[in-house]
Amino acid sequence: MTTQNPSEPAEQTQDVYPPSSEFSTNAVARPSLYEEAAADRLKFWELRARLLNWSKPFTEVLDYSNAPFARWFADGRLNACYNAVDRHIESGHGDQVALFAEYEDGADASYTYAQVKDEVSRMANALQDLGVTTGDRVAIYLPMIPEAVFAMLACARIGAPHSVVFGGFSADALRSRIDDAGAVAVITADGQFRRGKALPLKPAVDDALDGSQGTVKNVLVVKRTGGDVAWTDGRDHWWHELREDASTEHEPVAVDAEHPLFILYTSGTTGKPKGIVHTTGGYLTQAAYTHRNVFDLKPSSDVYWCTADIGWITGHTYVVYGPMVNRTTQVIYEGTPDTPHQGRWWEVIQKYGVTTFYSSPTAIRTAMKWGEDIPAKFDLSSLRLLGTVGESINPEAWRWYRRVIGGDRCPIVDTWWQTETGAIMISPLPGVTPLKPGSAQVPLPGISADVLDDNGEAVQPDEPGFLVLTDPWPAMLRGIWGDDQRFIDTYWSRFENRYFAGDGAKKDADGDVWVTGRVDDVMNVSGHRLSTSEIESALVSHPWVAEAAVVGAADETTGQSVVAFVILRSDALGDVEAEGGEENAVQVLRAHVGQEIGPIAKPKKVLLVTELPKTRSGKIMRRLLRDVAENREVGDTQTLADSSVMDLIQRGLAGK
Ligand code: WTA
Repeated sequence: MTTQNPSEPAEQTQDVYPPSSEFSTNAVARPSLYEEAAADRLKFWELRARLLNWSKPFTEVLDYSNAPFARWFADGRLNACYNAVDRHIESGHGDQVALFAEYEDGADASYTYAQVKDEVSRMANALQDLGVTTGDRVAIYLPMIPEAVFAMLACARIGAPHSVVFGGFSADALRSRIDDAGAVAVITADGQFRRGKALPLKPAVDDALDGSQGTVKNVLVVKRTGGDVAWTDGRDHWWHELREDASTEHEPVAVDAEHPLFILYTSGTTGKPKGIVHTTGGYLTQAAYTHRNVFDLKPSSDVYWCTADIGWITGHTYVVYGPMVNRTTQVIYEGTPDTPHQGRWWEVIQKYGVTTFYSSPTAIRTAMKWGEDIPAKFDLSSLRLLGTVGESINPEAWRWYRRVIGGDRCPIVDTWWQTETGAIMISPLPGVTPLKPGSAQVPLPGISADVLDDNGEAVQPDEPGFLVLTDPWPAMLRGIWGDDQRFIDTYWSRFENRYFAGDGAKKDADGDVWVTGRVDDVMNVSGHRLSTSEIESALVSHPWVAEAAVVGAADETTGQSVVAFVILRSDALGDVEAEGGEENAVQVLRAHVGQEIGPIAKPKKVLLVTELPKTRSGKIMRRLLRDVAENREVGDTQTLADSSVMDLIQRGLAGK
């Protein structure tokens, strides 16, 4: 794996926002949590784990004898869905609303915990009737509708690990994930609403299964948009039809704490996405603990809204598992922030009286761009806590978020974590930590993190280094599906015995962590991880392309944007000319990436060049291409095999 030097830290500010005494007095988190965890870390986690319901209580907290493969609470047994749903009914809260579902067109629905239990039980019965059993993998390819939540919980209820694939991914991306996990069933919908339009979803599943390895025997289809869909008899089943006959009685299957709860694919430094494996007991423990303390959860009065799609880890941990294990009332929203108008999110907050809002820096910057008079039209006074995740938030956006959305009264939690960490790792505790805009600040009680230099030594204050996690944590990934060696190589080889996160960071004089961004070939576009080499492979798979190099260029709104440098094959130039020349070729290649991976991976720019800058050993120097993409003076070209290449590239681009 290649690692670049960590870049310069984000802008630093002197502002500190201490908690208000009103917030602190009623806060869930207490300063004593830090002391408690420092005194006995394992005891600390043991007590958090005992807040779950175990069908067989565990006796051992952590087994790390086979490091880096950790086992937490391993001799205990439990069911994730029981913990997220049934136990709230048993404690007398069946009538509490679990989900307020807001559809893009303004229609809505709500489900109490008792109703969620019925829906999930029906789906679990239907899946079992189709032959899905404990340990089978099930792919979920759905929009943000309540059935997506039910599908995940139904899988958890029978101990069938789910693999949720974001609804914006292409058929090819879906196929490779289905094949890698060996999924036996897919849960999808006929279509989804996006920006007022009904877009088909089922055809992508048909396409994916056509040419797949054939492990999928059944496809469960939720009717959302209506209209015609192609149908494979015996394989495809309408959910509303199976639902009618499915019983609302279902016994959750207790599994070992280390039983896989889900696989979630994420981009890595090579072309092939990694299937990150999370298990049951440790994951749920940390999901619930972080959700309760970081979001200051008051289950009986809060209305919580996390805007993430269930296709991402944030949707797993902070829409489904953390909130529901904690008996949260939450909003889920199907659509985009600007449909039918740019105040849609703020309208949703007003409609449901949302108290706690968790979103991303890129969304905040977009709202800033649209202007503060838009949120000003809505009553946001119900809000009491704000959060962000996905990338560092620039202090200017942080202050805007606090003032315009949070009315200068809501603390903001900037939460650092990853698909691999499963749950929040570094974040202020609201009511406890004085807040610094732009910094994720401190490891949560129970979590150990550090910033190291190249040699594995702790860095001096304000010096750039690499973010590492120094002790195993309950929600840590247990591996990469089917590839233990890649797990070790990716995370445990850069520094001995420490987890390498792939992020650059520094610590300031107070010990607060400032994350500076990825130091590997992973880009972060609108808070979504994209791999440079995955997009390069997609480009090279087009018959016109000889070579491609992709970089993430700084972008005001999306954090980074994808810029591709492409060399066309000389024997394809005739075709390119015949089909509308270079301008058309750029559009064709963008669309091709959309087809291969999904619209989110489409390069913002495709630059056609005749050369790529390479070292003598043939490695592409992306650093120099990034300079070009960001309109900077090109840096040191001494290590290039041919130092005139950069001139050639720039002259070529200037001439277009
Ligand atoms: C970045 C998302 C700075 C980081 C939960 C990490 C952040 C990657 C923050 C994981 C933050 C996430 N400050 N950077 N608060 N949160 N990141 O797997 O580069 O989609 O490695 O998980 O997002 O992205 P992933």
